[in-house]
Amino acid sequence: MLLAFGVRLLLYHPVPLIFIILSSVGHGNAGITSTFIRSEWPSVDIPLDHEAFAIPKGHNAPQQVHITQGDYDGTAVIISWVTTDEPGNTKVQYGTSKEKYDFTAEGTVTNYTFYNYKSGYIHHCLVDGLEYNKKYYYKIGVGESSREFWFQTPPDIDPDASYTFGIIGDLGQTYNSLSTLEHYMQSGGQTVLYVGDLSYADRYEYNNVGIRWDSWGRFIERSSAYQPWIWSAGNHEIEYMPRMGEVLPFKSYLHRFMTPHIASNSSSPLWYAVRRASAHIIVLSSYSPFVKSTLQWKWLHEELKRVDRLKTPWLIVLMHVPIYSSNQGHYMEGESMRAVFESWFVCSKVDFIFAGHVHAYERSYRISNIHYNVSSGDRYPVPDRSAPVYITVGDGGNQEGLAGRFWDPQPDYSAFREASYGHSTLEIRNRTHAFYHWNRNDDGKKAQTDSVVFYNQYWASNMQRRRLRKNHCKL
Ligand SMILES: [Fe+2]
Repeated sequence: MLLAFGVRLLLYHPVPLIFIILSSVGHGNAGITSTFIRSEWPSVDIPLDHEAFAIPKGHNAPQQVHITQGDYDGTAVIISWVTTDEPGNTKVQYGTSKEKYDFTAEGTVTNYTFYNYKSGYIHHCLVDGLEYNKKYYYKIGVGESSREFWFQTPPDIDPDASYTFGIIGDLGQTYNSLSTLEHYMQSGGQTVLYVGDLSYADRYEYNNVGIRWDSWGRFIERSSAYQPWIWSAGNHEIEYMPRMGEVLPFKSYLHRFMTPHIASNSSSPLWYAVRRASAHIIVLSSYSPFVKSTLQWKWLHEELKRVDRLKTPWLIVLMHVPIYSSNQGHYMEGESMRAVFESWFVCSKVDFIFAGHVHAYERSYRISNIHYNVSSGDRYPVPDRSAPVYITVGDGGNQEGLAGRFWDPQPDYSAFREASYGHSTLEIRNRTHAFYHWNRNDDGKKAQTDSVVFYNQYWASNMQRRRLRKNHCKL
Protein backbone atom coordinates (compact mmCIF):
# COMPACT_ATOMS: atom_id res chain seq x y z
CA MET A 1 0.00 0.00 0.00
CA LEU A 2 2.83 2.35 0.85
CA LEU A 3 4.46 1.52 -2.42
CA ALA A 4 1.26 2.43 -4.26
CA PHE A 5 1.07 5.68 -2.30
CA GLY A 6 4.66 6.44 -3.17
CA VAL A 7 4.07 5.87 -6.86
CA ARG A 8 0.93 8.04 -6.71
CA LEU A 9 2.93 10.80 -5.09
CA LEU A 10 5.61 10.55 -7.75
CA LEU A 11 3.00 11.25 -10.40
CA TYR A 12 2.62 14.72 -8.93
CA HIS A 13 6.34 15.39 -8.82
CA PRO A 14 8.24 15.26 -12.08
CA VAL A 15 11.48 13.55 -11.12
CA PRO A 16 13.65 11.30 -13.25
CA LEU A 17 11.96 8.00 -12.38
CA ILE A 18 14.64 5.94 -13.97
CA PHE A 19 17.09 6.94 -11.27
CA ILE A 20 14.79 6.53 -8.34
CA ILE A 21 14.99 3.69 -5.88
CA LEU A 22 12.09 3.44 -3.46
CA SER A 23 13.39 3.08 0.05
CA SER A 24 10.81 0.38 0.83
CA VAL A 25 12.79 -1.94 -1.44
CA GLY A 26 15.31 -1.75 1.37
CA HIS A 27 17.64 -4.46 2.46
CA GLY A 28 18.03 -7.71 0.64
CA ASN A 29 19.17 -6.29 -2.70
CA ALA A 30 22.81 -6.58 -3.50
CA GLY A 31 24.62 -3.32 -2.83
CA ILE A 32 26.16 -1.35 -5.64
CA THR A 33 29.82 -0.45 -5.84
CA SER A 34 29.94 2.14 -8.55
CA THR A 35 32.55 1.54 -11.20
CA PHE A 36 32.68 5.20 -12.17
CA ILE A 37 36.26 6.40 -12.42
CA ARG A 38 36.61 10.13 -12.57
CA SER A 39 39.55 11.82 -14.17
CA GLU A 40 41.60 13.20 -11.31
CA TRP A 41 41.94 16.87 -10.81
CA PRO A 42 44.87 17.62 -8.60
CA SER A 43 43.78 17.75 -4.96
CA VAL A 44 45.69 20.92 -4.22
CA ASP A 45 44.50 24.01 -2.45
CA ILE A 46 43.59 26.99 -4.59
CA PRO A 47 46.31 29.69 -4.41
CA LEU A 48 45.56 32.53 -2.03
CA ASP A 49 45.54 35.14 -4.80
CA HIS A 50 42.78 33.28 -6.71
CA GLU A 51 39.49 35.11 -7.18
CA ALA A 52 37.74 32.37 -5.14
CA PHE A 53 39.29 34.04 -2.09
CA ALA A 54 38.80 37.64 -3.24
CA ILE A 55 39.03 40.24 -0.48
CA PRO A 56 36.20 42.79 -0.62
CA LYS A 57 37.30 46.31 -1.48
CA GLY A 58 37.33 49.18 0.97
CA HIS A 59 38.78 50.05 4.35
CA ASN A 60 37.83 47.47 6.98
CA ALA A 61 35.24 45.90 4.67
CA PRO A 62 33.42 42.93 6.25
CA GLN A 63 34.57 39.59 4.87
CA GLN A 64 34.02 35.88 5.59
CA VAL A 65 30.30 36.47 6.07
CA HIS A 66 28.31 33.46 7.22
CA ILE A 67 25.00 32.85 8.93
CA THR A 68 23.62 30.01 11.00
CA GLN A 69 20.35 29.32 12.77
CA GLY A 70 20.23 31.39 15.95
CA ASP A 71 17.55 29.66 18.02
CA TYR A 72 15.73 26.36 18.42
CA ASP A 73 12.89 26.93 15.96
CA GLY A 74 14.21 29.12 13.15
CA THR A 75 13.10 32.66 13.99
CA ALA A 76 16.66 33.87 14.54
CA VAL A 77 19.99 33.86 12.73
CA ILE A 78 23.50 34.49 13.94
CA ILE A 79 25.36 36.64 11.42
CA SER A 80 29.16 36.43 11.58
CA TRP A 81 31.88 38.31 9.73
CA VAL A 82 35.48 39.49 10.04
CA THR A 83 36.99 42.94 9.79
CA THR A 84 40.76 43.18 9.44
CA ASP A 85 41.83 46.77 10.13
CA GLU A 86 39.88 47.64 13.25
CA PRO A 87 36.90 46.29 15.22
CA GLY A 88 34.56 48.71 13.46
CA ASN A 89 30.82 48.56 13.75
CA THR A 90 29.30 45.46 15.37
CA LYS A 91 25.77 46.34 14.24
CA VAL A 92 23.61 44.53 11.71
CA GLN A 93 20.95 46.62 9.98
CA TYR A 94 18.13 44.55 8.56
CA GLY A 95 14.60 44.64 7.19
CA THR A 96 12.22 43.00 4.77
CA SER A 97 12.70 45.47 1.89
CA LYS A 98 15.84 45.94 -0.11
CA GLU A 99 17.95 48.91 1.02
CA LYS A 100 15.34 49.76 3.66
CA TYR A 101 16.66 48.62 6.99
CA ASP A 102 14.10 49.25 9.71
CA PHE A 103 15.84 47.27 12.44
CA THR A 104 19.24 47.11 14.07
CA ALA A 105 20.88 44.39 16.14
CA GLU A 106 24.05 44.82 18.16
CA GLY A 107 26.68 42.11 18.01
CA THR A 108 29.90 41.23 19.77
CA VAL A 109 33.48 41.17 18.59
CA THR A 110 36.29 38.79 19.49
CA ASN A 111 39.72 37.77 18.24
CA TYR A 112 42.40 35.21 19.00
CA THR A 113 46.00 34.34 18.27
CA PHE A 114 47.37 31.12 16.82
CA TYR A 115 51.16 30.89 17.00
CA ASN A 116 52.13 34.39 15.77
CA TYR A 117 49.00 34.82 13.69
CA LYS A 118 46.57 37.43 14.98
CA SER A 119 43.04 36.94 13.76
CA GLY A 120 40.93 39.75 12.41
CA TYR A 121 38.04 41.10 14.46
CA ILE A 122 35.44 38.37 14.44
CA HIS A 123 31.88 39.66 14.74
CA HIS A 124 28.85 37.62 15.81
CA CYS A 125 25.41 39.19 15.90
CA LEU A 126 22.16 37.50 16.90
CA VAL A 127 19.21 38.73 14.87
CA ASP A 128 16.05 37.35 16.45
CA GLY A 129 12.30 37.84 16.47
CA LEU A 130 12.10 37.17 12.74
CA GLU A 131 8.95 36.15 10.91
CA TYR A 132 8.77 32.77 9.26
CA ASN A 133 8.87 32.41 5.50
CA LYS A 134 10.18 35.91 4.80
CA LYS A 135 13.09 37.31 2.87
CA TYR A 136 15.29 39.58 4.99
CA TYR A 137 17.94 41.95 3.70
CA TYR A 138 20.87 42.88 5.90
CA LYS A 139 23.75 45.30 5.85
CA ILE A 140 27.05 45.18 7.74
CA GLY A 141 30.05 47.50 7.79
CA VAL A 142 30.24 51.26 7.43
CA GLY A 143 30.03 53.75 4.56
CA GLU A 144 31.51 52.77 1.24
CA SER A 145 32.90 49.56 2.75
CA SER A 146 29.49 48.34 3.87
CA ARG A 147 28.09 45.19 2.29
CA GLU A 148 24.55 43.94 1.78
CA PHE A 149 23.19 40.41 1.71
CA TRP A 150 19.88 38.60 2.19
CA PHE A 151 18.47 35.38 3.58
CA GLN A 152 15.13 33.61 3.66
CA THR A 153 13.64 32.43 6.95
CA PRO A 154 12.23 28.89 6.99
CA PRO A 155 8.54 28.01 7.12
CA ASP A 156 6.93 27.65 10.53
CA ILE A 157 7.53 24.39 12.36
CA ASP A 158 4.95 22.22 10.63
CA PRO A 159 4.81 18.48 9.96
CA ASP A 160 4.05 19.01 6.28
CA ALA A 161 6.46 21.86 5.61
CA SER A 162 8.56 21.10 2.55
CA TYR A 163 12.20 22.08 2.75
CA THR A 164 15.45 21.21 0.99
CA PHE A 165 18.67 20.63 2.87
CA GLY A 166 22.10 20.24 1.32
CA ILE A 167 24.64 17.97 2.96
CA ILE A 168 28.31 18.80 2.55
CA GLY A 169 31.34 17.41 4.36
CA ASP A 170 35.12 17.64 4.39
CA LEU A 171 35.04 20.52 1.92
CA GLY A 172 38.49 22.11 2.17
CA GLN A 173 39.55 24.69 -0.40
CA THR A 174 40.73 22.94 -3.57
CA TYR A 175 39.41 23.20 -7.12
CA ASN A 176 37.32 20.12 -6.31
CA SER A 177 35.93 21.97 -3.27
CA LEU A 178 34.98 24.88 -5.54
CA SER A 179 33.23 22.49 -7.90
CA THR A 180 31.25 20.96 -5.00
CA LEU A 181 30.24 24.37 -3.70
CA GLU A 182 29.17 25.63 -7.12
CA HIS A 183 27.16 22.45 -7.72
CA TYR A 184 25.50 22.76 -4.33
CA MET A 185 24.46 26.30 -5.17
CA GLN A 186 22.73 24.96 -8.31
CA SER A 187 20.88 22.31 -6.29
CA GLY A 188 18.18 24.47 -4.74
CA GLY A 189 19.28 23.69 -1.19
CA GLN A 190 17.94 26.12 1.41
CA THR A 191 20.21 25.24 4.33
CA VAL A 192 23.48 23.33 4.53
CA LEU A 193 23.91 20.50 7.01
CA TYR A 194 27.68 20.51 7.37
CA VAL A 195 29.20 17.26 8.63
CA GLY A 196 32.58 18.48 9.84
CA ASP A 197 36.15 19.15 8.62
CA LEU A 198 35.87 22.66 7.28
CA SER A 199 38.96 24.45 6.02
CA TYR A 200 41.76 21.88 6.40
CA ALA A 201 43.84 24.83 7.60
CA ASP A 202 45.52 22.45 10.04
CA ARG A 203 47.36 20.95 7.08
CA TYR A 204 49.43 24.14 7.20
CA GLU A 205 51.98 25.32 9.72
CA TYR A 206 52.48 28.37 11.86
CA ASN A 207 50.80 31.55 10.64
CA ASN A 208 49.42 29.86 7.54
CA VAL A 209 46.90 27.99 9.70
CA GLY A 210 45.02 31.19 10.50
CA ILE A 211 45.52 32.53 6.98
CA ARG A 212 43.84 29.43 5.51
CA TRP A 213 40.91 29.78 7.91
CA ASP A 214 40.47 33.31 6.56
CA SER A 215 40.63 32.17 2.94
CA TRP A 216 38.05 29.43 3.66
CA GLY A 217 35.73 31.99 5.21
CA ARG A 218 35.91 34.04 2.02
CA PHE A 219 35.53 30.90 -0.09
CA ILE A 220 32.19 29.78 1.41
CA GLU A 221 30.75 33.28 1.69
CA ARG A 222 29.08 32.98 -1.75
CA SER A 223 26.66 30.55 -0.09
CA SER A 224 27.01 30.99 3.65
CA ALA A 225 26.16 34.72 3.64
CA TYR A 226 22.77 33.92 2.12
CA GLN A 227 21.63 30.76 3.86
CA PRO A 228 22.38 29.07 7.18
CA TRP A 229 25.06 26.46 7.43
CA ILE A 230 24.39 24.15 10.38
CA TRP A 231 27.81 23.36 11.77
CA SER A 232 29.32 20.23 13.24
CA ALA A 233 33.01 19.79 14.02
CA GLY A 234 35.47 17.21 12.72
CA ASN A 235 39.01 16.15 13.57
CA HIS A 236 40.50 18.93 11.44
CA GLU A 237 38.90 21.47 13.78
CA ILE A 238 40.75 20.12 16.84
CA GLU A 239 44.09 21.74 15.93
CA TYR A 240 46.11 20.30 18.79
CA MET A 241 49.51 21.57 17.64
CA PRO A 242 51.93 21.58 20.58
CA ARG A 243 54.94 22.17 18.31
CA MET A 244 53.49 25.62 17.67
CA GLY A 245 52.46 26.07 21.29
CA GLU A 246 48.78 25.56 20.44
CA VAL A 247 46.98 23.01 22.61
CA LEU A 248 43.49 24.42 23.13
CA PRO A 249 41.16 22.18 21.11
CA PHE A 250 38.80 23.71 18.54
CA LYS A 251 40.30 27.18 19.13
CA SER A 252 39.92 28.57 15.61
CA TYR A 253 36.59 26.83 15.01
CA LEU A 254 34.94 28.03 18.20
CA HIS A 255 36.05 31.61 17.70
CA ARG A 256 34.82 31.72 14.13
CA PHE A 257 31.66 29.61 14.04
CA MET A 258 28.75 30.03 16.42
CA THR A 259 25.99 27.55 17.13
CA PRO A 260 22.74 28.12 19.07
CA HIS A 261 23.61 25.45 21.63
CA ILE A 262 22.06 27.18 24.65
CA ALA A 263 18.64 27.11 22.97
CA SER A 264 18.70 23.31 23.19
CA ASN A 265 20.11 23.23 26.75
CA SER A 266 23.51 22.07 25.58
CA SER A 267 26.58 22.94 27.62
CA SER A 268 28.80 23.09 24.52
CA PRO A 269 28.65 24.64 21.05
CA LEU A 270 29.98 21.30 19.75
CA TRP A 271 26.69 19.44 20.27
CA TYR A 272 23.20 20.90 20.01
CA ALA A 273 19.90 20.66 18.17
CA VAL A 274 17.70 22.87 16.01
CA ARG A 275 14.27 22.44 14.52
CA ARG A 276 13.70 23.75 11.02
CA ALA A 277 10.50 23.40 8.98
CA SER A 278 9.53 19.71 9.42
CA ALA A 279 12.95 18.51 10.60
CA HIS A 280 14.55 18.05 14.00
CA ILE A 281 18.31 18.15 13.53
CA ILE A 282 20.65 16.80 16.20
CA VAL A 283 24.34 17.66 15.95
CA LEU A 284 26.83 15.42 17.77
CA SER A 285 30.55 15.80 18.37
CA SER A 286 32.62 12.75 17.47
CA TYR A 287 35.61 14.25 19.27
CA SER A 288 34.03 15.17 22.58
CA PRO A 289 33.30 12.71 25.40
CA PHE A 290 30.11 10.73 24.73
CA VAL A 291 30.19 7.63 26.93
CA LYS A 292 27.58 7.12 29.62
CA SER A 293 27.17 9.99 32.08
CA THR A 294 29.23 12.49 30.07
CA LEU A 295 27.59 15.82 29.29
CA GLN A 296 27.03 14.95 25.63
CA TRP A 297 25.45 11.59 26.59
CA LYS A 298 23.14 13.25 29.11
CA TRP A 299 22.20 15.97 26.69
CA LEU A 300 21.36 13.55 23.86
CA HIS A 301 19.31 11.43 26.25
CA GLU A 302 17.14 14.45 27.04
CA GLU A 303 17.08 15.88 23.52
CA LEU A 304 15.75 12.65 22.02
CA LYS A 305 12.86 12.87 24.47
CA ARG A 306 12.12 16.40 23.25
CA VAL A 307 11.69 15.23 19.67
CA ASP A 308 8.03 15.55 18.71
CA ARG A 309 7.33 13.71 15.47
CA LEU A 310 3.85 15.24 15.40
CA LYS A 311 5.54 18.61 14.82
CA THR A 312 8.84 17.62 13.20
CA PRO A 313 8.42 14.22 11.54
CA TRP A 314 11.96 14.11 10.13
CA LEU A 315 14.67 13.23 12.65
CA ILE A 316 18.19 13.84 11.34
CA VAL A 317 21.48 13.31 13.18
CA LEU A 318 24.79 14.85 12.07
CA MET A 319 28.17 13.59 13.20
CA HIS A 320 31.62 13.60 11.68
CA VAL A 321 32.77 9.98 11.99
CA PRO A 322 30.47 7.50 10.24
CA ILE A 323 29.08 4.60 12.25
CA TYR A 324 28.64 2.37 9.20
CA SER A 325 31.26 2.64 6.47
CA SER A 326 32.81 -0.09 4.35
CA ASN A 327 35.67 2.09 3.18
CA GLN A 328 39.17 1.07 4.25
CA GLY A 329 39.86 4.70 5.15
CA HIS A 330 39.08 5.38 8.84
CA TYR A 331 37.60 1.90 9.10
CA MET A 332 35.72 1.24 12.37
CA GLU A 333 36.56 4.65 13.86
CA GLY A 334 32.85 5.13 14.54
CA GLU A 335 32.55 1.87 16.44
CA SER A 336 32.80 3.43 19.90
CA MET A 337 29.94 5.86 19.21
CA ARG A 338 27.92 3.04 17.63
CA ALA A 339 28.29 1.01 20.83
CA VAL A 340 27.01 3.91 22.93
CA PHE A 341 24.23 5.43 20.81
CA GLU A 342 23.01 2.97 18.18
CA SER A 343 20.22 1.49 20.32
CA TRP A 344 18.92 5.03 20.98
CA PHE A 345 18.95 5.84 17.26
CA VAL A 346 16.93 2.70 16.53
CA CYS A 347 14.37 3.09 19.28
CA SER A 348 13.97 6.78 18.36
CA LYS A 349 13.43 5.78 14.72
CA VAL A 350 15.96 8.29 13.41
CA ASP A 351 15.46 8.88 9.69
CA PHE A 352 19.01 9.72 8.61
CA ILE A 353 22.46 9.85 10.11
CA PHE A 354 24.74 11.95 7.96
CA ALA A 355 28.50 11.81 8.49
CA GLY A 356 31.71 12.83 6.75
CA HIS A 357 35.34 11.98 7.55
CA VAL A 358 35.70 9.24 4.91
CA HIS A 359 36.45 10.91 1.59
CA ALA A 360 33.97 8.94 -0.47
CA TYR A 361 30.21 8.47 -0.72
CA GLU A 362 28.26 5.59 0.82
CA ARG A 363 24.62 4.89 1.73
CA SER A 364 23.46 2.01 3.91
CA TYR A 365 20.26 0.02 4.06
CA ARG A 366 18.23 0.19 7.26
CA ILE A 367 20.25 -2.11 9.48
CA SER A 368 21.18 -2.35 13.15
CA ASN A 369 23.60 -4.24 15.33
CA ILE A 370 22.13 -3.82 18.80
CA HIS A 371 21.59 -7.35 20.08
CA TYR A 372 25.11 -8.11 21.26
CA ASN A 373 25.49 -7.53 25.00
CA VAL A 374 29.04 -8.81 25.62
CA SER A 375 27.71 -12.11 27.02
CA SER A 376 25.47 -13.15 24.15
CA GLY A 377 23.49 -12.01 21.13
CA ASP A 378 24.12 -11.53 17.43
CA ARG A 379 27.36 -9.75 16.63
CA TYR A 380 26.52 -8.57 13.14
CA PRO A 381 24.18 -6.04 11.46
CA VAL A 382 20.72 -7.27 10.56
CA PRO A 383 17.89 -5.64 8.57
CA ASP A 384 15.88 -3.40 10.88
CA ARG A 385 12.96 -1.25 9.72
CA SER A 386 13.35 1.03 12.74
CA ALA A 387 17.00 1.76 12.02
CA PRO A 388 18.33 4.93 10.40
CA VAL A 389 19.86 5.08 6.95
CA TYR A 390 23.55 5.92 7.35
CA ILE A 391 24.98 8.22 4.72
CA THR A 392 28.63 9.23 4.42
CA VAL A 393 29.25 12.41 2.46
CA GLY A 394 32.90 13.12 3.28
CA ASP A 395 33.57 13.80 -0.36
CA GLY A 396 33.52 17.61 -0.49
CA GLY A 397 36.93 17.69 -2.17
CA ASN A 398 39.69 18.64 0.25
CA GLN A 399 43.43 18.42 -0.38
CA GLU A 400 43.77 14.93 1.13
CA GLY A 401 42.09 13.44 -1.95
CA LEU A 402 39.68 10.52 -2.23
CA ALA A 403 39.43 7.39 -0.09
CA GLY A 404 39.35 5.06 -3.06
CA ARG A 405 39.57 1.63 -1.46
CA PHE A 406 36.44 -0.15 -0.25
CA TRP A 407 36.38 -3.52 1.46
CA ASP A 408 35.57 -6.32 -0.93
CA PRO A 409 33.09 -7.97 -1.01
CA GLN A 410 30.67 -5.14 -0.29
CA PRO A 411 29.01 -5.82 3.10
CA ASP A 412 25.29 -6.62 3.11
CA TYR A 413 24.54 -3.34 4.91
CA SER A 414 26.03 -1.19 2.15
CA ALA A 415 23.52 -0.11 -0.50
CA PHE A 416 25.63 2.19 -2.70
CA ARG A 417 29.20 3.38 -2.57
CA GLU A 418 31.45 5.38 -4.84
CA ALA A 419 34.75 7.16 -4.36
CA SER A 420 34.00 10.47 -6.07
CA TYR A 421 33.57 14.05 -4.97
CA GLY A 422 30.10 15.50 -4.53
CA HIS A 423 27.34 16.58 -2.17
CA SER A 424 23.83 15.42 -1.22
CA THR A 425 20.41 17.05 -1.18
CA LEU A 426 17.43 16.03 0.90
CA GLU A 427 14.15 17.39 -0.45
CA ILE A 428 11.54 16.93 2.24
CA ARG A 429 8.11 17.05 0.56
CA ASN A 430 5.71 16.42 3.43
CA ARG A 431 5.42 14.33 6.60
CA THR A 432 5.70 11.03 4.73
CA HIS A 433 8.07 11.48 1.79
CA ALA A 434 11.47 12.93 0.98
CA PHE A 435 13.53 12.81 -2.19
CA TYR A 436 17.22 12.27 -1.67
CA HIS A 437 20.06 12.66 -4.16
CA TRP A 438 23.79 12.30 -4.05
CA ASN A 439 25.20 14.61 -6.71
CA ARG A 440 28.56 13.62 -8.09
CA ASN A 441 31.05 16.17 -9.39
CA ASP A 442 31.22 14.58 -12.80
CA ASP A 443 34.26 16.20 -14.40
CA GLY A 444 32.90 19.67 -13.80
CA LYS A 445 29.22 18.83 -14.23
CA LYS A 446 26.69 17.96 -11.51
CA ALA A 447 25.25 14.46 -11.96
CA GLN A 448 22.49 13.03 -9.79
CA THR A 449 23.94 9.61 -9.16
CA ASP A 450 22.27 7.97 -6.16
CA SER A 451 18.58 8.90 -5.84
CA VAL A 452 16.12 7.45 -3.36
CA VAL A 453 12.59 8.23 -2.23
CA PHE A 454 12.56 7.85 1.52
CA TYR A 455 9.50 7.19 3.63
CA ASN A 456 9.40 8.91 6.97
CA GLN A 457 10.28 6.56 9.82
CA TYR A 458 7.40 7.73 11.99
CA TRP A 459 4.55 8.74 9.69
CA ALA A 460 5.05 6.30 6.85
CA SER A 461 5.92 3.24 8.88
CA ASN A 462 3.43 0.82 10.34
CA MET A 463 0.40 3.06 10.97
CA GLN A 464 -1.22 0.70 13.42
CA ARG A 465 1.90 0.36 15.49
CA ARG A 466 2.26 4.13 15.50
CA ARG A 467 -1.27 4.54 16.84
CA LEU A 468 -0.82 1.87 19.45
CA ARG A 469 2.66 2.81 20.61
CA LYS A 470 3.02 6.53 20.21
CA ASN A 471 5.88 6.62 22.66
CA HIS A 472 7.39 3.27 21.87
CA CYS A 473 10.90 4.38 22.68
CA LYS A 474 11.83 4.11 26.31
CA LEU A 475 15.15 5.89 26.64
FE1 LIG B 1 37.74 13.95 9.29
